[in-house]
Amino acid sequence: MEDNDLIKTGLNNVFTFITRDGSKRLVTKALFPWVQGEKTIKVEKEEYRIWYPYHSKLAALLIKGSTIPLKKDSTVLYLGAANGTTVSHVSDIVSEGTVFAVEFSPRAMKDLIRISKPRKNLIPILADARHPDSYRNMVTEVDMIYQDVAQREQAERMMRNADLFIKKGGCLVLIIKTKSIDSVKNTDEVSHNEITKLGGLFKVMGKLNLNPFDSEHVAIIALKEV
Ligand SMILES: C[S@@+](CC[C@H](N)C(=O)[O-])C[C@H]1O[C@@H](n2cnc3c(N)ncnc32)[C@H](O)[C@@H]1O
Repeated sequence: MEDNDLIKTGLNNVFTFITRDGSKRLVTKALFPWVQGEKTIKVEKEEYRIWYPYHSKLAALLIKGSTIPLKKDSTVLYLGAANGTTVSHVSDIVSEGTVFAVEFSPRAMKDLIRISKPRKNLIPILADARHPDSYRNMVTEVDMIYQDVAQREQAERMMRNADLFIKKGGCLVLIIKTKSIDSVKNTDEVSHNEITKLGGLFKVMGKLNLNPFDSEHVAIIALKEV
């Protein structure tokens, strides 16, 4: 692949390219080249990691054209880091910043620790995101909170963390699995209820579905105004 086949996006280290069959792919320039078993491409000695929208809701958001206000020196609190698939790409983006990655499953944490070892900007935290006081002394104020926990009380959990950690002007990205909140009500109704829980301090910039990559989740993007 040639250097000029990669198309810059507005985000540090994030590029797209078009495959031979005409489909669009998303990649991040690898801060560290290895994550076991993943596909990479090489361009002029640099390694780029393919970021799959069917595996990562953030990749789905970006490939659909959403913008998120992340810079190379941003700090991010990531709630529900799982085994680090999306987190590792966020770490590529904030190459001079920090990602605090909270996950409460010890099993997932094993993988997360392995991925974090060579990445000095990725701090894994084994904790329950419902109790942000438990990691208060490990996390600084952040520019963004990204939450993907797939449980009930998703907006409430985000707000508890935002109260402690978000900077003025900071951004919240709340991934909502509506069926985990209410299996009977429709997606619009559930996500509207969650938005109202964000309260007056946040301006909701957008509510986006992730179709065709994911039909179960909705993303809400909000900014702290004051
Ligand atoms: C849908 S997965 C996240 C996938 C991940 N964001 C990605 O894109 O690679 C949800 C994760 O949230 C974690 N989780 C759920 N509730 C949590 C909580 N209260 N505190 C911390 N982690 C939680 C689960 O263990 C699971 O790993």
